[in-house]
Amino acid sequence: MGLFDVDLINKYNRSGPRYTSYPTANNFSELSIQDYQQQSILSNQRKTSISLYCHIPFCNTVCYYCGCNKFVTKDKSMAEPYIEALFKEVDMQSPLFDKGRLVEQMHFGGGTPTFLSGEQIIRLSNKLQQSFNFSTDGEYSIEIDPRGIDESLIESLAIARFNRISLGVQDFDLEVQKAINRVQSFEQTKAVIGMSRENGFKSISIDLIYGLPRQSKETFKRTLERVQDLRPERISLFNYAHLPELFKPQRRINIEELPSPSEKLDIFQHSLEYLIGLGYVYIGMDHFALPDDPLAIAQSEGNLYRNFQGYSTHSECDIIGLGLSSIGQVADSFSQNEKNLEKYYQALKSGQLPIVKGLIINQDDKIRRELIMELICHFEVSISSLEQRYSINFKNYFANSLEKLAEMQNDGLVVLTNDSIKVMDKGKLLVRNICMIFDNYLKSSSTSFSKTI
Ligand SMILES: C[S@@+](CC[C@H](N)C(=O)[O-])C[C@H]1O[C@@H](n2cnc3c(N)ncnc32)[C@H](O)[C@@H]1O
Ligand code: SF4
Repeated sequence: MGLFDVDLINKYNRSGPRYTSYPTANNFSELSIQDYQQQSILSNQRKTSISLYCHIPFCNTVCYYCGCNKFVTKDKSMAEPYIEALFKEVDMQSPLFDKGRLVEQMHFGGGTPTFLSGEQIIRLSNKLQQSFNFSTDGEYSIEIDPRGIDESLIESLAIARFNRISLGVQDFDLEVQKAINRVQSFEQTKAVIGMSRENGFKSISIDLIYGLPRQSKETFKRTLERVQDLRPERISLFNYAHLPELFKPQRRINIEELPSPSEKLDIFQHSLEYLIGLGYVYIGMDHFALPDDPLAIAQSEGNLYRNFQGYSTHSECDIIGLGLSSIGQVADSFSQNEKNLEKYYQALKSGQLPIVKGLIINQDDKIRRELIMELICHFEVSISSLEQRYSINFKNYFANSLEKLAEMQNDGLVVLTNDSIKVMDKGKLLVRNICMIFDNYLKSSSTSFSKTI
């Protein structure tokens, strides 16, 4: 298999972005509403398909490890004003985009979208379907927290037109669950997966995290054996990113209980081998899929894409970001919404789109973005197609990067020929470190990123 090489991991594994976009969100600066409107005109001319991202920030309880943009409350009455605000935002966004353009993707993320009731989710989805033109075979996905979910909610998700579901699990070990303030039984998770399958959901995905407090190789092995029983089509195995200065809830994690770096690496190595032994394909960047899942098929056929929601089988879409802190990608722009709930409401109340920052990408960004996305999705870049598309001479253009790439070639991570850069098995786990060589923004900041492994 040859993916795991401890010496190379120790040599190259340093913190860096996850490249759900290039440039990455920490480089966003200013984008005015007028800029955004102009970009929407450009995007209508290009006629690209549309992806809708809707952020639901609320969670019932806090998981101590969590690094997501969320608002923890037990007060369900907070949902209704938020939905009203989202409706206003949809009414302001939808006229900017031609009705002929197809929505190929919709994703509800969080926080916890299932903080909303089934009826509220259906209402929100209906609003989006009335305001945009949905494709008949789009990929419509939602993140759910299986705790407290019943069959009627899963039925509502199907009525709301979702066809993909992703479940937060993290770990099935009770001691680990207690240490992260997330007690979630295996039986409950299994029941939710069963209900989802009965209601026609495909490509069921679960999130796991390694490196959590009280985890050991032994405990995580038992978690993976339980995962084997569930056989989700997709698995995300995240490296726990402990950044307590950025994420307050993480200060409640007892660092003495975290596995040591070498134990963490052991857990990861074992997990990787275990999942591959079960027949999963390592897609890259924490993701695994069964070989007959559309994600694995798209990768083998060269049609895999990556955006803020992770890997996708749909060609590059313009993303319309809705809700608190959501990120949009329209024509040549990135835009990010307000992160403060009151200010988000205030902007919409005064008839303004709640966009607070963003970026318009330049030609250099486009070239590097294409290269980085090809590396991450397909582990290979065609130099001649990059040269033709952008009228560049690769060796001259990337002269500064080639020295570092040569070192990686000597170590067996990549092979550079006249026509391609190919990531070898040993380099696949370190693909984001390879991408970092080509990232023009990295010189100044890397402290807020987590390590690859
Ligand atoms: C928005 S949550 C998923 C939906 C739902 N809120 C839940 O937790 O069930 C997204 C995922 O991000 C991952 N995650 C959150 N904080 C993380 C961290 N600090 N390090 C690694 N992964 C993290 C978890 O695996 C989590 O399931
Ligand atoms: S992991 Fe999910 S449920 Fe837990 S706090 Fe984060 S967003 Fe909320």
